[in-house]
Amino acid sequence: MNAPVRFPSDPAPRASAIELHARPSPEFEARLRETVVTLLKAAATGPVSQASSLGAEDMVITHLINAHQLPIGIFVLDTGLLHAETLALLEQLKAQQAAHPYAPLTVYQPVPEAAAEFVAREGADAMYKSIALRKACCAIRKLEPLNRALAGKKAWITGLRREQSGARADVPLVDRSEQDNRGLLKYNPLAGWSWGDVWHYIATRAVPYNPLHDQFYPSIGCAPCTRAIALGEDFRAGRWWWEDETAKECGLHVRQNPGVAA
Ligand code: ADX
Ligand code: SF4
Repeated sequence: MNAPVRFPSDPAPRASAIELHARPSPEFEARLRETVVTLLKAAATGPVSQASSLGAEDMVITHLINAHQLPIGIFVLDTGLLHAETLALLEQLKAQQAAHPYAPLTVYQPVPEAAAEFVAREGADAMYKSIALRKACCAIRKLEPLNRALAGKKAWITGLRREQSGARADVPLVDRSEQDNRGLLKYNPLAGWSWGDVWHYIATRAVPYNPLHDQFYPSIGCAPCTRAIALGEDFRAGRWWWEDETAKECGLHVRQNPGVAA
Protein backbone atom coordinates (compact mmCIF):
# COMPACT_ATOMS: atom_id res chain seq x y z
CA MET A 1 0.00 0.00 0.00
CA ASN A 2 1.28 3.48 -0.83
CA ALA A 3 2.08 5.88 2.01
CA PRO A 4 -0.43 8.75 2.25
CA VAL A 5 0.64 11.87 0.31
CA ARG A 6 1.86 14.62 2.64
CA PHE A 7 2.18 18.27 1.70
CA PRO A 8 4.76 20.63 3.22
CA SER A 9 1.97 22.65 4.84
CA ASP A 10 0.50 19.59 6.64
CA PRO A 11 1.01 19.63 10.39
CA ALA A 12 3.49 16.97 11.54
CA PRO A 13 1.74 13.78 12.70
CA ARG A 14 1.39 13.88 16.47
CA ALA A 15 3.21 11.23 18.47
CA SER A 16 1.10 9.53 21.11
CA ALA A 17 2.10 9.66 24.76
CA ILE A 18 2.87 5.94 24.48
CA GLU A 19 5.30 6.48 21.61
CA LEU A 20 6.89 9.41 23.41
CA HIS A 21 7.19 8.04 26.93
CA ALA A 22 6.81 4.25 27.22
CA ARG A 23 10.37 3.37 28.30
CA PRO A 24 10.60 1.11 31.35
CA SER A 25 13.41 1.77 33.79
CA PRO A 26 15.72 -1.15 34.66
CA GLU A 27 13.91 -1.30 38.03
CA PHE A 28 10.44 -1.58 36.47
CA GLU A 29 9.70 -5.20 37.42
CA ALA A 30 10.94 -4.66 41.01
CA ARG A 31 8.89 -1.48 41.31
CA LEU A 32 5.81 -3.27 40.03
CA ARG A 33 6.23 -6.00 42.66
CA GLU A 34 6.68 -3.36 45.38
CA THR A 35 3.53 -1.61 44.15
CA VAL A 36 1.44 -4.78 44.33
CA VAL A 37 2.73 -5.45 47.87
CA THR A 38 1.81 -1.87 48.83
CA LEU A 39 -1.70 -2.28 47.41
CA LEU A 40 -2.14 -5.57 49.30
CA LYS A 41 -1.11 -3.80 52.51
CA ALA A 42 -3.51 -0.96 51.76
CA ALA A 43 -6.38 -3.41 51.19
CA ALA A 44 -5.57 -5.07 54.54
CA THR A 45 -5.63 -1.73 56.40
CA GLY A 46 -9.42 -1.62 56.46
CA PRO A 47 -11.82 0.62 54.59
CA VAL A 48 -9.61 2.15 51.90
CA SER A 49 -10.30 4.04 48.69
CA GLN A 50 -8.30 5.03 45.67
CA ALA A 51 -8.46 8.73 44.74
CA SER A 52 -8.47 8.92 40.96
CA SER A 53 -8.11 12.07 38.90
CA LEU A 54 -8.20 9.76 35.83
CA GLY A 55 -4.61 10.76 35.13
CA ALA A 56 -2.15 8.20 33.77
CA GLU A 57 -0.88 7.13 37.21
CA ASP A 58 -4.39 6.66 38.57
CA MET A 59 -5.47 4.57 35.59
CA VAL A 60 -2.48 2.28 36.25
CA ILE A 61 -3.45 1.87 39.92
CA THR A 62 -7.08 1.08 39.05
CA HIS A 63 -5.87 -1.49 36.53
CA LEU A 64 -3.76 -3.15 39.24
CA ILE A 65 -6.69 -3.14 41.69
CA ASN A 66 -8.81 -4.91 39.07
CA ALA A 67 -6.06 -7.31 38.01
CA HIS A 68 -5.59 -8.46 41.62
CA GLN A 69 -9.30 -8.21 42.51
CA LEU A 70 -8.57 -6.05 45.54
CA PRO A 71 -11.48 -4.76 47.67
CA ILE A 72 -10.58 -1.11 47.10
CA GLY A 73 -13.28 1.35 46.05
CA ILE A 74 -12.37 4.20 43.72
CA PHE A 75 -13.54 7.78 43.96
CA VAL A 76 -13.33 10.66 41.51
CA LEU A 77 -13.82 14.27 42.56
CA ASP A 78 -15.77 15.78 39.67
CA THR A 79 -15.20 19.48 40.34
CA GLY A 80 -17.73 20.54 37.68
CA LEU A 81 -14.85 22.07 35.71
CA LEU A 82 -13.16 19.00 34.24
CA HIS A 83 -12.25 18.76 30.54
CA ALA A 84 -14.67 17.00 28.17
CA GLU A 85 -11.94 14.38 27.56
CA THR A 86 -11.74 13.65 31.30
CA LEU A 87 -15.53 13.36 31.59
CA ALA A 88 -15.60 10.95 28.63
CA LEU A 89 -12.95 8.79 30.33
CA LEU A 90 -14.99 8.93 33.54
CA GLU A 91 -17.95 7.42 31.68
CA GLN A 92 -15.66 4.69 30.32
CA LEU A 93 -14.32 4.01 33.81
CA LYS A 94 -17.86 3.75 35.24
CA ALA A 95 -18.68 1.08 32.66
CA GLN A 96 -15.36 -0.70 33.30
CA GLN A 97 -15.81 -0.81 37.09
CA ALA A 98 -19.33 -2.16 36.78
CA ALA A 99 -17.58 -5.43 35.86
CA HIS A 100 -15.43 -5.25 39.04
CA PRO A 101 -17.95 -5.17 41.93
CA TYR A 102 -15.19 -5.40 44.61
CA ALA A 103 -13.85 -2.02 43.36
CA PRO A 104 -16.90 0.21 42.89
CA LEU A 105 -16.53 3.72 41.51
CA THR A 106 -18.11 6.69 43.31
CA VAL A 107 -18.19 10.24 41.98
CA TYR A 108 -18.25 13.18 44.40
CA GLN A 109 -19.34 16.63 43.27
CA PRO A 110 -19.26 19.97 45.07
CA VAL A 111 -22.36 21.23 46.88
CA PRO A 112 -24.14 22.92 43.92
CA GLU A 113 -25.30 25.97 45.93
CA ALA A 114 -21.79 26.59 47.33
CA ALA A 115 -20.19 26.43 43.87
CA ALA A 116 -22.88 28.62 42.28
CA GLU A 117 -22.77 31.18 45.09
CA PHE A 118 -18.96 31.44 44.81
CA VAL A 119 -19.12 32.02 41.03
CA ALA A 120 -21.92 34.62 41.45
CA ARG A 121 -19.92 36.47 44.11
CA GLU A 122 -16.35 36.21 42.77
CA GLY A 123 -16.80 35.50 39.04
CA ALA A 124 -16.09 32.47 36.87
CA ASP A 125 -12.46 33.62 36.58
CA ALA A 126 -11.92 34.05 40.33
CA MET A 127 -9.03 31.55 40.37
CA TYR A 128 -6.86 33.93 38.35
CA LYS A 129 -7.49 36.93 40.60
CA SER A 130 -5.61 35.85 43.74
CA ILE A 131 -4.14 32.77 45.37
CA ALA A 132 -6.69 33.15 48.17
CA LEU A 133 -9.61 33.01 45.71
CA ARG A 134 -8.02 30.10 43.84
CA LYS A 135 -7.70 28.19 47.10
CA ALA A 136 -11.29 29.10 48.03
CA CYS A 137 -12.45 27.58 44.73
CA CYS A 138 -10.39 24.42 45.42
CA ALA A 139 -11.87 24.25 48.93
CA ILE A 140 -15.43 24.20 47.56
CA ARG A 141 -14.84 22.02 44.50
CA LYS A 142 -12.18 19.60 45.79
CA LEU A 143 -11.55 19.65 49.54
CA GLU A 144 -15.11 19.54 50.84
CA PRO A 145 -16.00 16.67 48.47
CA LEU A 146 -12.69 14.95 49.42
CA ASN A 147 -13.68 15.05 53.09
CA ARG A 148 -16.96 13.34 52.22
CA ALA A 149 -15.12 10.75 50.10
CA LEU A 150 -12.74 9.93 52.98
CA ALA A 151 -15.34 9.81 55.76
CA GLY A 152 -15.18 6.46 57.55
CA LYS A 153 -11.99 5.41 55.75
CA LYS A 154 -8.79 4.22 57.40
CA ALA A 155 -6.58 4.86 54.40
CA TRP A 156 -6.51 6.24 50.89
CA ILE A 157 -4.42 5.60 47.82
CA THR A 158 -3.05 8.22 45.46
CA GLY A 159 -0.95 8.38 42.30
CA LEU A 160 1.68 10.74 43.72
CA ARG A 161 5.21 10.11 42.40
CA ARG A 162 8.49 11.56 43.63
CA GLU A 163 9.51 12.55 40.12
CA GLN A 164 6.47 14.83 39.66
CA SER A 165 7.91 17.90 41.40
CA GLY A 166 10.44 19.13 43.94
CA ALA A 167 7.67 19.35 46.54
CA ARG A 168 6.96 15.63 45.99
CA ALA A 169 10.61 14.49 45.94
CA ASP A 170 10.30 12.64 49.26
CA VAL A 171 6.82 11.10 48.85
CA PRO A 172 6.91 7.77 50.75
CA LEU A 173 5.11 4.54 49.84
CA VAL A 174 3.13 4.87 53.06
CA ASP A 175 2.58 8.34 54.46
CA ARG A 176 1.58 8.61 58.11
CA SER A 177 1.82 12.40 58.27
CA GLU A 178 -1.89 12.86 57.58
CA GLN A 179 -2.81 10.91 60.69
CA ASP A 180 -2.41 14.23 62.53
CA ASN A 181 -5.13 16.06 60.67
CA ARG A 182 -7.22 13.53 58.72
CA GLY A 183 -6.45 10.49 60.85
CA LEU A 184 -5.75 8.45 57.70
CA LEU A 185 -2.85 6.55 56.24
CA LYS A 186 -2.01 7.53 52.69
CA TYR A 187 -0.57 4.94 50.32
CA ASN A 188 1.38 6.15 47.28
CA PRO A 189 2.08 2.84 45.52
CA LEU A 190 3.71 4.48 42.47
CA ALA A 191 5.96 6.78 44.55
CA GLY A 192 9.14 5.39 42.96
CA TRP A 193 7.90 4.98 39.38
CA SER A 194 9.29 7.01 36.50
CA TRP A 195 7.03 8.54 33.84
CA GLY A 196 8.49 5.96 31.45
CA ASP A 197 7.40 3.15 33.81
CA VAL A 198 3.85 4.51 33.92
CA TRP A 199 3.58 4.58 30.13
CA HIS A 200 5.26 1.22 29.73
CA TYR A 201 2.56 -0.27 31.98
CA ILE A 202 -0.21 1.53 30.04
CA ALA A 203 1.20 0.39 26.70
CA THR A 204 1.76 -3.25 27.64
CA ARG A 205 -1.59 -3.72 29.44
CA ALA A 206 -3.72 -1.62 27.06
CA VAL A 207 -4.86 0.61 29.90
CA PRO A 208 -7.34 3.31 28.79
CA TYR A 209 -6.02 6.85 29.28
CA ASN A 210 -7.00 10.49 28.92
CA PRO A 211 -6.34 11.62 25.30
CA LEU A 212 -5.14 14.96 26.67
CA HIS A 213 -1.92 13.10 27.50
CA ASP A 214 -1.35 12.86 23.73
CA GLN A 215 -1.59 16.67 23.56
CA PHE A 216 1.25 17.43 25.99
CA TYR A 217 -0.82 17.54 29.16
CA PRO A 218 1.22 15.33 31.54
CA SER A 219 -0.64 16.54 34.64
CA ILE A 220 -4.40 17.11 34.31
CA GLY A 221 -6.67 18.95 36.71
CA CYS A 222 -9.60 21.33 36.14
CA ALA A 223 -9.87 22.88 32.66
CA PRO A 224 -9.41 26.53 33.76
CA CYS A 225 -6.28 25.63 35.75
CA THR A 226 -4.50 23.25 33.35
CA ARG A 227 -2.64 23.93 30.10
CA ALA A 228 -0.36 21.92 27.82
CA ILE A 229 3.36 22.18 28.48
CA ALA A 230 6.13 23.09 26.05
CA LEU A 231 9.25 21.02 25.38
CA GLY A 232 11.60 21.23 28.37
CA GLU A 233 8.99 22.52 30.81
CA ASP A 234 8.52 20.81 34.18
CA PHE A 235 5.94 18.04 34.62
CA ARG A 236 3.56 20.30 36.57
CA ALA A 237 4.30 23.53 34.67
CA GLY A 238 0.80 23.43 33.14
CA ARG A 239 -0.96 23.44 36.53
CA TRP A 240 -1.82 26.90 37.99
CA TRP A 241 0.89 28.18 35.65
CA TRP A 242 0.37 31.81 36.70
CA GLU A 243 1.25 31.04 40.32
CA ASP A 244 4.55 30.79 42.14
CA GLU A 245 5.98 27.23 42.34
CA THR A 246 5.50 27.07 46.13
CA ALA A 247 1.71 27.74 45.94
CA LYS A 248 1.03 25.00 43.37
CA GLU A 249 -0.89 22.46 45.42
CA CYS A 250 -4.65 22.46 45.81
CA GLY A 251 -4.68 21.15 49.37
CA LEU A 252 -5.54 17.52 48.59
CA HIS A 253 -2.03 16.58 49.67
CA VAL A 254 -0.93 18.43 52.80
CA ARG A 255 1.91 16.92 54.78
CA GLN A 256 2.55 17.70 58.44
CA ASN A 257 5.41 15.35 59.39
CA PRO A 258 7.84 13.22 57.43
CA GLY A 259 6.30 9.95 56.26
CA VAL A 260 7.55 6.45 56.85
CA ALA A 261 8.64 4.18 54.04
CA ALA A 262 7.02 0.77 53.93
S1 ADX B 1 -3.27 17.94 42.62
O1 ADX B 1 -3.28 17.98 44.10
O2 ADX B 1 -2.31 18.84 42.03
O3 ADX B 1 -4.60 18.02 42.03
P1 ADX B 1 -2.42 15.78 40.99
O4 ADX B 1 -3.31 16.20 39.88
O5 ADX B 1 -0.95 15.80 40.78
O6 ADX B 1 -2.73 16.52 42.35
O7 ADX B 1 -2.87 14.35 41.46
C1 ADX B 1 -2.23 13.67 42.49
C2 ADX B 1 -3.16 12.64 43.05
O8 ADX B 1 -4.23 13.29 43.75
C3 ADX B 1 -3.82 11.78 42.02
O9 ADX B 1 -3.00 10.70 41.63
C4 ADX B 1 -5.07 11.34 42.75
O10 ADX B 1 -4.76 10.28 43.64
C5 ADX B 1 -5.44 12.57 43.56
N1 ADX B 1 -6.38 13.44 42.82
C6 ADX B 1 -6.10 14.58 42.17
N2 ADX B 1 -7.21 15.09 41.60
C7 ADX B 1 -8.21 14.24 41.91
C8 ADX B 1 -9.62 14.18 41.60
N3 ADX B 1 -10.22 15.12 40.85
N4 ADX B 1 -10.35 13.14 42.10
C9 ADX B 1 -9.77 12.20 42.87
N5 ADX B 1 -8.46 12.19 43.17
C10 ADX B 1 -7.69 13.19 42.70
FE1 SF4 C 1 -11.22 25.76 41.04
FE2 SF4 C 1 -8.98 25.63 39.53
FE3 SF4 C 1 -9.06 24.55 42.02
FE4 SF4 C 1 -10.40 23.43 39.97
S1 SF4 C 1 -8.16 23.64 40.22
S2 SF4 C 1 -11.17 23.73 42.03
S3 SF4 C 1 -11.10 25.30 38.86
S4 SF4 C 1 -9.22 26.74 41.45
